[in-house]
Amino acid sequence: MVRVGLVGLGFMGQQHFAIYDALEDAQVVAVCDRIPERVSEQVASVGGNLGEATELDLSAQARYVCFEEMLEAGGFDVVDVCTPTPLHAEMTLRALDAGCHVICEKPMARTLTQCDAMIKAAEEAGRLLFIAQCIRFWPEYEVLARMIADGSLGEIRWARFVRQSPTPAWASEGWLLDPELSGGALLDLHIHDVDFILSVFGKPNAVVSRGMNIASEGAPVDHVETSYLYGDMVVTAQGGWVMPDSFPFEMGFQVLGTRGLLVFSLANDPALQFYPFDGEPMAPEYEAGTGYENELAYFVECIEAGRAPERVTPQSARESVRIVEAEADSIASREMVIIG
Ligand SMILES: NC(=O)c1ccc[n+]([C@@H]2O[C@H](COP(=O)([O-])OP(=O)(O)OC[C@H]3O[C@@H](n4cnc5c(N)ncnc54)[C@H](O)[C@@H]3O)[C@@H](O)[C@H]2O)c1
Repeated sequence: MVRVGLVGLGFMGQQHFAIYDALEDAQVVAVCDRIPERVSEQVASVGGNLGEATELDLSAQARYVCFEEMLEAGGFDVVDVCTPTPLHAEMTLRALDAGCHVICEKPMARTLTQCDAMIKAAEEAGRLLFIAQCIRFWPEYEVLARMIADGSLGEIRWARFVRQSPTPAWASEGWLLDPELSGGALLDLHIHDVDFILSVFGKPNAVVSRGMNIASEGAPVDHVETSYLYGDMVVTAQGGWVMPDSFPFEMGFQVLGTRGLLVFSLANDPALQFYPFDGEPMAPEYEAGTGYENELAYFVECIEAGRAPERVTPQSARESVRIVEAEADSIASREMVIIG
């Protein structure tokens, strides 16, 4: 049984808590949030852009408002960091120092320097570090990754990814809309597609990005469109949180290969459809679920097996932050940025 100490019981922490509750091999034994109501015995749902609204019963957990106190009391094997992005690095370092494995929400950290410190600390502590890049575990994206890898899409000609939402309103003390804290939609939302693109296509030769600031005053970027330059293949991603409040959260892709087109859209039924060049459209079969469930189950397995998580290495999550930073540079300079 993997024992979890969970810090940050906002939108994502509540999702994680409910998922561990359903896993046979994991148990949340301690929770921490600096807002006392969020660690009371019965907690109302915070809500967010995706995932079920969750009400929590925390009567069986040790409950803390201070992270240091939770670490000192101990009694868990892994710390799950679901706090705002600027806290990821320092909390990860403290948890590793206390001898725990760490799962940390994406983006890995606010800066590359922080990412590097996390990687070094995990190596020195000899503990496992897993960054929750959930899209690599999202079933429809897993199908796409498989169809690229096994050749059933053929040679890829172009790929287009999209991720858009209204301006998020749930974040505690509005941290998401403070660009210094969150890095804006570029680092917080669009990084999901960046990370997935890197995982299936590798590092691009260069990026060309255009972005704008519509929703949040002072934010560097809350809408971005990027071309990732890879030889002859055209890969683009569009993301942001400038949509009207009535617009439903959107994520999806269209990927054209020499054997056909794979389309994922939450607005379609079925959401995932393959259009071959030589046959009728068909809906690929896959197990229902979310990337949140699959990633946590995967990391729990890794901990039990004492195996470093290969599906998302800390280095690869750091690369996603690096490419996002290159996109920010391209937006600022209006130039193509070469990826060295
Ligand atoms: N994987 C995804 O799809 C996804 C979706 C949303 C958020 N996230 C990521 O999860 C992280 C959290 O985002 P969120 O939307 O849950 O934010 P949130 O504001 O809803 O929750 C953050 C929680 O952390 C608590 N907190 C802040 N400082 C603390 C401290 N010092 N000690 C203890 N608790 C503290 C807050 O009180 C709050 O309850 C962010 O890094 C975000 O990018 C990932």
